[in-house]
Amino acid sequence: MSRRPAIRGERLLGHLDRFAAIGATAKGGVNRQALTQGDREARALLADLAGARGFAVRQDEAANLFLRREGTDTGLPPLLIGSHLDTQPTGGRFDGALGVLAAFEVLEALEDASFRSPRAAEVAVWTNEEGSRFAPGAMGSQAFAARLLPAEWRDARAPDGARLGDELAATIASLPAPFAPLGFPIAAYLELHIEQGPVLEREDTPIGAVTGIQGTLWLEVELTGQAAHAGTTPLDFRRDPMRAAVAVLDEFYRTVMPSDPDARFTVGRIEAQPGSVNAVPERVRFTIDLRHPDATVLAHLAGRIRDVCEQACAQAGCAFSIHRLVDMPPTAFPEEMVERVEASARRAGLASRRIVSGAFHDALYLARCAPAAMIFCPCRDGISHNEAEHVEPRFVLAGASVLLETALSMIDTVEPMFDGPTRVTV
Ligand code: GLV
Ligand code: MN
Ligand code: MN
Repeated sequence: MSRRPAIRGERLLGHLDRFAAIGATAKGGVNRQALTQGDREARALLADLAGARGFAVRQDEAANLFLRREGTDTGLPPLLIGSHLDTQPTGGRFDGALGVLAAFEVLEALEDASFRSPRAAEVAVWTNEEGSRFAPGAMGSQAFAARLLPAEWRDARAPDGARLGDELAATIASLPAPFAPLGFPIAAYLELHIEQGPVLEREDTPIGAVTGIQGTLWLEVELTGQAAHAGTTPLDFRRDPMRAAVAVLDEFYRTVMPSDPDARFTVGRIEAQPGSVNAVPERVRFTIDLRHPDATVLAHLAGRIRDVCEQACAQAGCAFSIHRLVDMPPTAFPEEMVERVEASARRAGLASRRIVSGAFHDALYLARCAPAAMIFCPCRDGISHNEAEHVEPRFVLAGASVLLETALSMIDTVEPMFDGPTRVTV
């Protein structure tokens, strides 16, 4: 006899603690970067937990990991529910892990209740969402949606020198799980994530129904001049790429965010070569993370970066190149999926509000191959990509409960999710 499935909060919070211990940092955060030993350990633990509940474990050639609870009609494509287990170098306990472990809790709740649904529910753990060790981010979900792992990604190098192709192979080899085809058919995709911003907490609203994701551009800018002696080289003999870099960055820090509240401009990595105190550098390289909900504005800002580099390099006698690491256009989720999340929150007795995601997520790519939806829950002070990241237990429970409600509304049907064209809104 099946009962109504329910989230068991203690179990979910216990799993969050257990996974936070893998790669735990002294300041209470997590350093479990993509395809490292810690990442492999977390994947192995989840595979063990899944095996213990009788869920089928598979992985694909992008090292995406899948845990499936079968439905009664094995011919139906599954509902996929997922997120990521990799973290930033100084990451928090919830970014990614909450979505994966809440998805696993949904499967456990279905199993506890012996719930029989026609459609399977399957947890997805996407490889390298963060992109901080290997660019681009959201690699696994991108490969899944495109049904292709681009050959050039295999040669991507981490700051520690590791090659992506080698780390991918070692990660796959570390888990004895059969292969799933890359980009197998799915009915729909759901993802729970922390908001990573201050909106929901400020309003004490437990649930965000995500309407879309703003656009992100990652650029790597390299300015090249001439190495020279710091003590002997007069100004008019210098071709100093640091001078050009400072001019470019000063221009953008003064103009981009101060003049547009929707724009985001971040330089998170900068290096000078050869990196000697008493030498004018030969080369300066920095990354730019540029975001905006409007694709036209994003393209315009990218064009300005090129113009400003040109001007600054002409003045400093330097050359430059700009390499595009990531180009994620703004994405909207189908209106029907947003309404489904809102209706699930109402059924769970929880207030919700619509919200646009400032962070990118794997759901951005899944939305290209299936109807996708995201649920946000608040995090303390809006802080994320930081070891201090924190989510109140009541918000963890709220998010997981709405995830379960939404999943139930989608697995208990044999109908295709939507007929005809879906309406999208941002
Ligand atoms: C995801 O981690 C992002 O940077 O938005
Ligand atoms: Mn994330
Ligand atoms: Mn993140």
